Amino acid sequence: MQAIYLVKNGTPKVAFEFRDIQMTEPKDDEVGVIVEASGINFADVVARMGNYQDCPPLPTIIGYEAVGRVEKVGKNVTTLKKGDRVLAFTRFGGYSQYVTQQESAVAKISETMDVGKALALATQYSTAFYACSVATNVLPHETVLIHAAAGGVGTALIQLCKLKHAKIYGTAGSESKLEYLRKQGVDFPINYTKEDFSEVIKEPIDVAFDSLGAANFRKSYKLLNRGGRLVGYGAAAMTDATNIFTKAKMGAQFGIYHPAQFIMESRAMIGVNMLRIADYKPDTLKYCMESVITLLDEGKIDPHVGNMYAAKDIYQAHEDMEKRKTMGKIGITW
Ligand SMILES: NC(=O)c1ccc[n+]([C@@H]2O[C@H](COP(=O)([O-])OP(=O)(O)OC[C@H]3O[C@@H](n4cnc5c(N)ncnc54)[C@H](OP(=O)(O)O)[C@@H]3O)[C@@H](O)[C@H]2O)c1
Repeated sequence: MQAIYLVKNGTPKVAFEFRDIQMTEPKDDEVGVIVEASGINFADVVARMGNYQDCPPLPTIIGYEAVGRVEKVGKNVTTLKKGDRVLAFTRFGGYSQYVTQQESAVAKISETMDVGKALALATQYSTAFYACSVATNVLPHETVLIHAAAGGVGTALIQLCKLKHAKIYGTAGSESKLEYLRKQGVDFPINYTKEDFSEVIKEPIDVAFDSLGAANFRKSYKLLNRGGRLVGYGAAAMTDATNIFTKAKMGAQFGIYHPAQFIMESRAMIGVNMLRIADYKPDTLKYCMESVITLLDEGKIDPHVGNMYAAKDIYQAHEDMEKRKTMGKIGITW
């Protein structure tokens, strides 16, 4: 059995190393899963570059999700048994042929569920579900703005907000991604390399979902309606900062806010970090995972799988993610 270790920060070729691993015993509240495929998320790219503060010390195994079959069961586990096909939210450790994880972060999936679509549900759809149904509860008459909408979480937000009958503005960085957004049903796709979304959008936004940060965050806040909510769940733009000065400059571009202004304007800013939800509110994570699994089983959502790479092509997968070439979910199969 093997796992892909992050051994150094840098390009994919220098960063990753395949190493042999042993199948360890799960703790009492955990299961051990033999993995069929592992998901890749943008946060993995940030971790590889050495800019992700939650990343454990190197060498380590990164990766937020895995699909596989339960092999070992801890003595306090009640809802899963050996042989179950499952989706695990792994909180690092996902790039491996064997993972152990708490029962609360592992959900059963059907034998027929496509493996790539299943991977999309753990981090990306669960984050999107938490953002639009738990943290903000988007209403049918509301207008939403989704940044990096062609990505994994972006696609999930589009599909979940469409289910809620919201009007959708979505931004992306190329014409092919705009075409993808149209096909996904975005009402107003905006290419943010050509147009400034804050000038193009002429109406107040009820809920904005921002994964880019810096000036993008401040501009999104300015567009908010009274009663509006801004969800910040990432800072992809910060990966463009090459030194401490550009980092500080981009940090300042988020803007400065006083709580009194939120009350006076009846506007809200909400931070989302699913690792913290998994750590401190495991039942909420489980609720999000099971909700999106049910939505897929019922045919109400349809995750787009951009590409599934062979595990040996992890280098290419990371390069494509970093160079913004991917749309929807990507992963590796073992
Ligand atoms: N807080 C949480 O719990 C949580 C959970 C999951 C994901 N996230 C965050 O959500 C975002 C989306 O994650 P994902 O895994 O679904 O990735 P993704 O959206 O599939 O890929 C990232 C996309 O971000 C856009 N982007 C903007 N600036 C970029 C830059 N400087 N470098 C690279 N890409 C840039 C690119 O789209 P364009 O070409 O359209 O610009 C790129 O395709 C990430 O910021 C991630 O960290 C947060």
